Amino acid sequence: MHTDRTYALADLLPPHIVDGLGEYSLHVPEWAFLPDAWNFTLYQGLRNARLENSDVLEVGCGTGITLLLLHAYFAGIRLTYADIVPQCTELAQANLQENRQENGHRALHGSWNLLRFLGNGIAPEIGPQDAVVACIPQVAVTEAQLQEWGRWIPDWRAHYYDPGDFPDASFNNRGLGLNEELLRQAREILPRGGRIILNLAHRPGPEHIIAMFRTYGFTAVQALSTSMIRQHASTSLRPFMALEDAGAPDFVFYEDETGHRPISAHAAERRRLAKEPIYHKLSAFQAKLS
Ligand SMILES: C[S@@+](CC[C@H](N)C(=O)[O-])C[C@H]1O[C@@H](n2cnc3c(N)ncnc32)[C@H](O)[C@@H]1O
Repeated sequence: MHTDRTYALADLLPPHIVDGLGEYSLHVPEWAFLPDAWNFTLYQGLRNARLENSDVLEVGCGTGITLLLLHAYFAGIRLTYADIVPQCTELAQANLQENRQENGHRALHGSWNLLRFLGNGIAPEIGPQDAVVACIPQVAVTEAQLQEWGRWIPDWRAHYYDPGDFPDASFNNRGLGLNEELLRQAREILPRGGRIILNLAHRPGPEHIIAMFRTYGFTAVQALSTSMIRQHASTSLRPFMALEDAGAPDFVFYEDETGHRPISAHAAERRRLAKEPIYHKLSAFQAKLS
């Protein structure tokens, strides 16, 4: 766990992401997700995404860092944002306000499970969007399981999703059920040609990722950025092992940063527990609704 701190964005992010931007600050309380190399891949991809004068929804806004960057990268962008953890939306709004960037943007307060409002009363309309952006979990596990394994962490929602929320998601067996459900729901607010940008690990096998986009009518799948990153040391890989045990094809991790030595989730978890490094590829994938 990290400490409650306010960062200058230039101290938190690598130069290629913040070069040429003004000075921004980001408050990250102890309970909030602190962005790491995983997220940097998304930010780099977004920088290439040409979202000027667009309506963009971010699902899972966390601290609001992605919103700050999108606002800085693209003139005329109009942002709408939500999170399943209501405190995240408040924090994102406060971070935008602190940097005097809140005008023209819209916080969807309360708890939102993807595009579904979990509160009482009538949900506000999200309205049509040109693009949907998300960097949301790809490890399926319940909160109870995490507690049983002694792996519960305050920002568990940033790392894991409960597959029981989406029992019909056919890509749950690849850890992709939450992202799959977002593809299904995003069709309600995107026009034809509308874009979705998802930060996805290649661990399930890239062919399964492309198949998932196609299943929901998203084509022209393209990687806006790709990195080889070190697997987050605090994310348990037991859910992937359970899927391998249940007969799903092996997941794809690497022993080495160059990607020459692929290993399964079982082998990767042994290395993680031994505090040895493991890696996987990650891309900010963009696709268009056809
Ligand atoms: C990995 S963090 C990324 C946060 C932020 N975009 C960033 O770059 O730092 C994922 C965020 O998605 C949120 N989240 C997880 N499941 C969600 C869901 N079903 N609906 C909406 N948000 C969700 C988490 O609470 C967390 O804030």
